Amino acid sequence: MDDQAADLRETVRLRYAATALAVTAGSADRCGPAPVEVDGNFGSGLYSGADRDALPAEAVAASLGCGNPTAVAELREGERVLDLGSGGGIDVLLSARRVGPTGKVYGLDMTEEMLALARSNAREAGATNVEFLKGHIEAIPLPARTVDVVISNCVVNLSTDKPAVFAEMARVLVPGGRVGVTDVVAADHLTPAERAERGSHVGCVAGALSFTEYREHLAAAGFTDVEIVPTHAVVEDVHSAIIRATAPARGR
Ligand SMILES: C[S@@+](CC[C@H](N)C(=O)[O-])C[C@H]1O[C@@H](n2cnc3c(N)ncnc32)[C@H](O)[C@@H]1O
Repeated sequence: MDDQAADLRETVRLRYAATALAVTAGSADRCGPAPVEVDGNFGSGLYSGADRDALPAEAVAASLGCGNPTAVAELREGERVLDLGSGGGIDVLLSARRVGPTGKVYGLDMTEEMLALARSNAREAGATNVEFLKGHIEAIPLPARTVDVVISNCVVNLSTDKPAVFAEMARVLVPGGRVGVTDVVAADHLTPAERAERGSHVGCVAGALSFTEYREHLAAAGFTDVEIVPTHAVVEDVHSAIIRATAPARGR
């Protein structure tokens, strides 16, 4: 990783460490065009009332995403799920309810403060089938072919090495495993500079892939059945989107 990428990753880590502490203190900022912004495009308002009611208030307050990947992934009893960039743990806890006691949900995050918040939320929720791992989504600390489903909520756009993220998703999924992700995606005609004009990297806008780039990265990692559906605009020509894909049947 070059110095610029390392600096950017550190900026992201510091931003989300501060956010985790702010959530704990009761006032959070999150993804969005401005550094301190709470709007309908990000956070717990994107979940159903039933999902929100099923979790401790602190876990709901910690939601920083741009969608609800657990609704996208159609999780089944007994499945093993990995949430990339699990933050305060909302999607891990919702997934844990869906896969039940015979399933298992891993949350992966690089930010110690987020992991502490997520573990506290899991204790509060009484979730026993969850485990939070410290690490980077570009080098997932799990063996190959160990999960049935990869979910993620508004995190891939933050990565400074997106090809590595998609390759790692393919590595840890079982053959035929599923990706059910929500992320920020830019219209194809926007240049990287135009994306950066619309919002910062830590705010989940400047680092967004375009729709075509997203498809190309998934295909390069071997995924099939790629589906990318915009759900709502977060700023002009930049959307929150649902991304679904299937891992190769024989693995890679
Ligand atoms: C926008 S928040 C989303 C959190 C959570 N998915 C949610 O919906 O509430 C981004 C999270 O991803 C984590 N993160 C960002 N880049 C990462 C990376 N390269 N590796 C691991 N975690 C990362 C941050 O620490 C933060 O917790």
